[in-house]
Amino acid sequence: MKIPLLDIEAQIKPLRKEIDIAIANVIDRHHFILGEEAGKLEEQIAKYCNIKYAIGVSSGTDAIVLSLKALGIGSGDGVICPSLTYYATAGAIARTGARPVFADIDLKTYNISIDSVDQILRNTQYAICNTIKAIIPVHLYGQCADMDPIMKIAKRYNLKVIEDAAQAFGAIHKGKKAGTIGDYGAVSFYPGKNLGAFGDAGCVLTNNKNLARRLHLLRNQGASPENKYKHLCIGHNARLDTIQAAILGAKLKYIDRWNKKRAQNADYYNKSLKNLDIITPYVANGNNHIYHHYILRVKRDKEKIRKHLIKKGIDSRTYYSIPLHLQPCFKYLGYKNGDFPKAEKCAKGTFAIPVYPELSKKQMDYIVKTMTESLL
Ligand SMILES: Cc1ncc(COP(=O)(O)O)c(C=O)c1O
Repeated sequence: MKIPLLDIEAQIKPLRKEIDIAIANVIDRHHFILGEEAGKLEEQIAKYCNIKYAIGVSSGTDAIVLSLKALGIGSGDGVICPSLTYYATAGAIARTGARPVFADIDLKTYNISIDSVDQILRNTQYAICNTIKAIIPVHLYGQCADMDPIMKIAKRYNLKVIEDAAQAFGAIHKGKKAGTIGDYGAVSFYPGKNLGAFGDAGCVLTNNKNLARRLHLLRNQGASPENKYKHLCIGHNARLDTIQAAILGAKLKYIDRWNKKRAQNADYYNKSLKNLDIITPYVANGNNHIYHHYILRVKRDKEKIRKHLIKKGIDSRTYYSIPLHLQPCFKYLGYKNGDFPKAEKCAKGTFAIPVYPELSKKQMDYIVKTMTESLL
């Protein structure tokens, strides 16, 4: 049996007709950038997330870059983010000219550690601490970070909060959708995400009218809504393609069903793997985890297990094998091995196995059987 980490074909097959029609409609109207479907998608997403504004942009990365810029963050500023996340979180900070300030993670949820953030803000020299302007909690693998203490710390130190909800569209934290708690929420619709486009796409969520207005300007060359050749600020070309919006619009109605199926698959794994020497995902109180990834952690050699999975045709992957503080591109920040032991431990000991909604019981049983063999 061959089981990929994600089976996009299995997801698209039953929706193919709907998607073809949605794409054809855009081609017929040939309004390819920020067309009617883009506006409609923004309304639908805002309604789905129970937020005032959803602003479609060209990718999840741009959603973070634009949010930082709209908050006035740039050269000379520092922005806290976890060391264990996809590169784009910190890459976006660096691209504004600001300095990524890494924090360690919580080894149970894999999300940013509040203690680590607190320590950074208390212990860092005042001169540096004073330049820290924002924090980006990442809702890693589909589970929200612990937002109450984050918002509390942000208030105490006057920090802006941008939620990186790239992996968590549809996740719920204490009754609120991921990305709707901070000043901005950044969402990715990268094809492999739970709600994925057929190319790059993303969106920014906010409840603040002024922040929404700034984001609208920044995504579209700083152009005035009244006169597209009058540029009110230095903006980006980071607009949402109408074809991507049409595809996302066709898929949006299935997201809750897909997320629920992922959670059911995760439950099945949790129960089936519970007697093995392996750590299954932990869900914090108040969280509705959408399992963008199902992460397992081992204390011993994970490569031996992964090799056995590969031999049996099962795909797996480590998210992320090098924590950001040890990435070559961030060497200039001066971090070293051992600075964030939990992020390093996670990079060494974790891997994801397939959890996508279209997995059959037979496939999951095969995965469980193979995992069991590898751990005996
Ligand atoms: C945590 C995280 N942040 C940011 C991004 C960037 O999103 P995109 O690939 O849409 O630019 C991703 C997606 O890969 C991600 O997983």
